[in-house]
Amino acid sequence: MIFYYAGHIVAKDSVKVENVVAVIALLLFCLAHALTGVALIPQIANSKDTARQVLRLSNLSPKSHESLGSELPSLDGFVSFYNVSFTYPSRPNQFVLRNLSLQIHQGECIAIVGPSGSGKSTIASLLQRLHQPSHGVISFSGHAAYEIDVTYLRSQIAVVSQTPTLFPTTIHANILYGIPLAQRVAFYPQSLVETVARAVGIHDWIVSLPRGYNTILRSADGSVSGGQAQRITLARALIRKPKILILDECTSALDSENASLVIDTIGRITRNDVDIYHDGSKAGIYMETKHHSMEISPTESAYSRLDHVYHVQKHQMTVIIITHKQELMRIAHRVAVVDQGTVVEDGTYAELKNKGAGGKLVRLLSVDRLK
Ligand SMILES: Nc1ncnc2c1ncn2[C@@H]1O[C@H](COP(=O)(O)OP(=O)(O)OP(=O)(O)O)[C@@H](O)[C@H]1O
Ligand SMILES: [Mg+2]
Repeated sequence: MIFYYAGHIVAKDSVKVENVVAVIALLLFCLAHALTGVALIPQIANSKDTARQVLRLSNLSPKSHESLGSELPSLDGFVSFYNVSFTYPSRPNQFVLRNLSLQIHQGECIAIVGPSGSGKSTIASLLQRLHQPSHGVISFSGHAAYEIDVTYLRSQIAVVSQTPTLFPTTIHANILYGIPLAQRVAFYPQSLVETVARAVGIHDWIVSLPRGYNTILRSADGSVSGGQAQRITLARALIRKPKILILDECTSALDSENASLVIDTIGRITRNDVDIYHDGSKAGIYMETKHHSMEISPTESAYSRLDHVYHVQKHQMTVIIITHKQELMRIAHRVAVVDQGTVVEDGTYAELKNKGAGGKLVRLLSVDRLK
């Protein structure tokens, strides 16, 4: 249009061509600048939004229930809920947990199941002290949660949630995310990272990538499948050697193939087939058979023998699986059914299934099947 009009006035009004060219150049120059400005508009909106969030955080009161507690007790993974009731601050009249009592023993794997909205994730939040119970006490190895230093308590707990969070950095840094740099060098050598990656069954895939553990992850480019991402977050949780591992619906966002890969990994963890250790100089797998203890090097062939040959007796991690999946309930040593914020049934998966039509778990599973 501009060029047409320029041609027109040059021909009709005998305007000098140089002047018209200069005007066109100026117009294009201004247009380019205007377009750059327009492209910045979404960024301005994002910056405003981020600034609003930062301001909200900076205006939060530094005094909260998190400042309570200074004890650093040695925790063994034993957890007890005693008559715990809870309401969220935004809905103070609606009890999400009601007189909930539950004991989870050291090294036990418990599945917490129940209808949607029954309070399962709330139990996980209270364990991490994200909220304070309204009544009752949660204790860890006999120490009331509110007496324990919150940072220390959280360092003993690892959570793998429904949506895996990957950071735009290397796979190595993603696995070690949250561990201070100084500690990484001293206590988390590459051999340990590889041991953990093998334990969750992701090592082979990582080394098949051209840059191996130094591959930069970009969650948006689709190069990492849901199952691989979930296994990386499992590795991130395990490398910290938590006393308590919480898996909150960690397979529900996956397709069945990826879900069964992750379930297989969880099964190996909960059967205590793998005990990842690091003694300061070397990383490896420690295994105890009925007759003798042995150490094996972390090779693939050794791992492939794990399921069949050895039974490891020594393990410290308590695993809490929040799930709707029967495969995971079967893996757990015990199943606790939660309904309307309280434990309504508790026992092994087989015991609860054998209760027949009157059983709460059986009813829950049949309702799930009908949906
Ligand atoms: N931050 C919050 N503020 C207010 N109410 C909440 C909050 N989080 C959860 N709730 C409410 O608490 C109840 C229990 O929620 P919770 O997330 O613990 O259920 P759930 O058993 O994990 O359910 P699902 O199986 O769907 O994950 C629900 O009624 C929910 O609406
Ligand atoms: Mg939930």
